[in-house]
Amino acid sequence: MTNNSPILMFDSGVGGLTVLAELRKLMPKAPVIYAADIAGLPYGEKSEAEVAARVSGLLGRMAERYDPRLICIACNTASTIALGMVREVLEVPIVGTVPAIKPAAQITKTGTIGLLGTKATVRQAYVDDLEKEFARGKKLLRYGANELVALGERKLRGEEVSVDEVAKAASGLVLQVGGEDLDTVVLACTHFPLLEPELREAFGKDVTFVHGAEGIARRIAHLLEGQKFGFFSKSFAVTTGEIGDFKRLAPAFERHGISTLKRF
Ligand code: DGL
Repeated sequence: MTNNSPILMFDSGVGGLTVLAELRKLMPKAPVIYAADIAGLPYGEKSEAEVAARVSGLLGRMAERYDPRLICIACNTASTIALGMVREVLEVPIVGTVPAIKPAAQITKTGTIGLLGTKATVRQAYVDDLEKEFARGKKLLRYGANELVALGERKLRGEEVSVDEVAKAASGLVLQVGGEDLDTVVLACTHFPLLEPELREAFGKDVTFVHGAEGIARRIAHLLEGQKFGFFSKSFAVTTGEIGDFKRLAPAFERHGISTLKRF
């Protein structure tokens, strides 16, 4: 690691921008390489073995190429499946993104919490463990809303996304037995806070949404406290996918201080 080593922020797509937005409030000038595995998107429809192999392989190559001082896996699907494995093979500090069940359990008044993630995330043993540890005595309703990932991607490319589309994609959560008692919903996919205004309108004012982006940003800032950043190191974004499509995201990246977009 040198003074020029950046922070590497990794997601399957643009979801990690919800974490970057919070990080920018704490570390506005830190050089960040945002890596989007758009050739592999969506992770939520892949098997555990596919996600684990893809994420550890890519992060290994990225760590070698960019020499990051810290890697943030800004993706719940990748983190709940592959965090342990990636930590074992890379020597860089790794911050993961896991469903914010603990704060949700502290907030709920009805005792019924919703967990909205990808299909791959909601079935993970990691989530069972969080439920056992932090939501004992509460009811946790889970729903894998993979369609919301595509809607988040569309919205950041400047396309119209309606409240109806978002409501339809998330409706499986409330249609379950006990769904009418939900008062707190964990957004357990980094893409979903991109749709928070639409989700608020769809669920109504009695439901509170919780996600982990702020806590993750605080954790990164804490781990890097006191470290210096080289004057010449710059932020940029890379994609494993097609560059023409990635460039449609330029305004979204620009909002977070990133104006160079390239292929990995
Ligand atoms: N943003 C990712 C997450 O937090 C998932 C999106 C995908 O399905 O690739 O789970």
